[in-house]
Amino acid sequence: MMSNRIRNKKLLKRVCSAKEAAMLIKDNMNVAASGFTPSGYPKAVPLALAEICKENKEKIKINLYTGASVGDELDGSWARADIIKKRLPYQTNESLRDHTNKGRCEFLDMHLSHVPNYVKLGFLGKIDIAIIEAVAITKEGHIIPSTSIGASPTYVKMADKVIVEINTSQPLELEGMADICIPQNPPYKRPLPIVLPNDRIGTDYIPCGLDKIAAIVITDIEDNVRSLSPIDETSEKISENLINFLKKEVELGRLTNELLPLQSGVGSVANAVLAGLGKSEFENLVCYTEVIQDSMLDLIDTNKVLFASGTAITPSIEGLKKFKENIKTYRDRIILRPQEISNHPEIIRRLGVIAMNTAIEADIYGNVNSTNIMGSRMMNGIGGSGDFTRNAYLSIFTTSSTAKNGEISSIVPMVSHHDHTEHDVMVIITEQGVADLRGLSPKERAEKIINNCAHPDFKPMLLDYFSRAKEKSYGHTPHILGEALSWHERFMEKGTMIVE
Ligand code: COA
Repeated sequence: MMSNRIRNKKLLKRVCSAKEAAMLIKDNMNVAASGFTPSGYPKAVPLALAEICKENKEKIKINLYTGASVGDELDGSWARADIIKKRLPYQTNESLRDHTNKGRCEFLDMHLSHVPNYVKLGFLGKIDIAIIEAVAITKEGHIIPSTSIGASPTYVKMADKVIVEINTSQPLELEGMADICIPQNPPYKRPLPIVLPNDRIGTDYIPCGLDKIAAIVITDIEDNVRSLSPIDETSEKISENLINFLKKEVELGRLTNELLPLQSGVGSVANAVLAGLGKSEFENLVCYTEVIQDSMLDLIDTNKVLFASGTAITPSIEGLKKFKENIKTYRDRIILRPQEISNHPEIIRRLGVIAMNTAIEADIYGNVNSTNIMGSRMMNGIGGSGDFTRNAYLSIFTTSSTAKNGEISSIVPMVSHHDHTEHDVMVIITEQGVADLRGLSPKERAEKIINNCAHPDFKPMLLDYFSRAKEKSYGHTPHILGEALSWHERFMEKGTMIVE
C-alpha cells in the first residue's frame, strides 16, 4: 500500500517516527507548516514535539508560519507547551488566542496573499524546516498535498529541509485537485493567465525533489474540523437581505442571474449566506474563494454551483465525511490553489469577484473591524478578507446588528480597530437591512448605515451622536473624538454600550 504513497523506494529509508522527525526542530528555528482553516496541517510531528518539550522540560522557542489556521495538534499543543515565540498569519485556536492576548507570543496578522511573497523576499528570515502534510510523494520527490495548499509551495521551495507527513486518512483521490504555480519575484512577475475560475496554470504537485526531504512520517490522524453552529434566525435574515440585494442588482442590469464569481468568508453567518443562495433562483454559479465549506459542497451537489476554486476544503465533521465519500465528483468541480493565487488581487479584480465577508463591527462611515474585540483582543485575524475586499467588483460585509445579548452595538461611532477602510467597503448588511454605500459621501453613508443597519435599541444614540458631531466638528467626516470610542469603554466598564 505504501508504494502508492511513497513512490520512490529510496525515500523509504527516510521514514521515521514522529518523535525522530520532531527532534530535527531546534530552538530559535523558523518552522513553516502546511495547513489552512484547519485542514491539511501536520499533526503527528507537532504532537511529538510538544511531548518532547514536556518530557525534557527543555525550553525551545520557535517562530511558526502556516497558510492560515491549523488544528489543535499544532497551534493548541504548541501554545500550551509554550513553544511559539512568533506566529503568523492567522489562527482560530483557543489556547493560542489566549496565549496571544496574554502577550506570551507575538502574532502577525497578515493579508494571506502577502505571506508567500514575504517569505520569498526574505522579510521573515530563512525557513529552517517545513512540515507538510501530503497524500503521497512522487517518484521525483514532489509532494501531492492533502486538503489545503495555502503557502506550502513557497515554504517547500524556501525551506532548508522538509518533513513530510503522509496522512493515510486523506484519500489518494485528492491527487489532481491541486493547481500549483509559484509566481516569480519582481521585476520578473508575469500576468497570471486565469480568466475563468476553472483555468489551470500549474502542476498538481508541489515541486520539492528527493534531496530536500529529511524525514517522512506516516500518520492517520484526521483533520480536526469543527461542526458549524446551526443557522439561527438572525443569520437567516442577514442571508435573506443579502440575496434580495443581489436580486435588485440583477433587476438593475448590473448582474445577471449567474452573478459573478463568489467569495465567501468564514463563520456561521457566511455559511448561512451560502445556504440561502441554495434556495434562491440564481443559477450556474461559480466561486473564486479561499475556503470551501459545507454550504459550498451542498451547492455543488445540487448543481447550483458549477465550479469552485479555493485554497482549502474546510467542511464540518459531517461535511468531511461526505467530501471523502464523493471525492471523485468533487475533484472535477474543485481546484485548490496556493493562497498567493486564490487571493491574488490581479485575478480577483479581473474576474469581478463578489466578496462576502463578516465584520465584528462597522462604524457609521463604513470602516470595518474584522479582528480585534474592543480594539485589542485578537479574535482570528484578517485572513483573506482584505485581499478580496480591496479588489472585488462588489465588497459586502455582513454582521448581526448587536452582539453579547444585545449589550453591544455592531454599528458604532468609530471602529475600535481598523481592517477595511471606508474606501473599500461597498455594502453593509445586518438583519435590520442593507446599506449600499457606493457613490455616497461620508455623511450620506452615516445616514444610510444608521437608518438601515443599526439595531432600534442603538439607532437613537447613533443619530444623536451624528447630529452633535455635525455641529461640533469639521463638516466632512464629523466626529467628537473624545466620545467616539466611549461606547467601547462603557461596555468594558459596565458590560453594556447602552447609556442607563
Ligand atoms: N463586539 C464585541 N464582540 C463581538 C462583536 C462586537 N461587535 N461581534 C461579535 N463579537 C464576538 C461574539 O460575541 C463572539 O464571541 P465569543 O467567541 O466570546 O462567543 C465572537 O465575536 C465571534 O462572533 P460570531 O458571531 O460567532 O462570529 P462568526 O463565526 O460569524 O465570525 C468573524 C466572525 C469576524 C470573527 C470571522 O468572520 C473572522 O474571523 N473574520 C476575519 C477573517 C475573514 O474574514 N476571513 C475570510 C476571508 S476569505
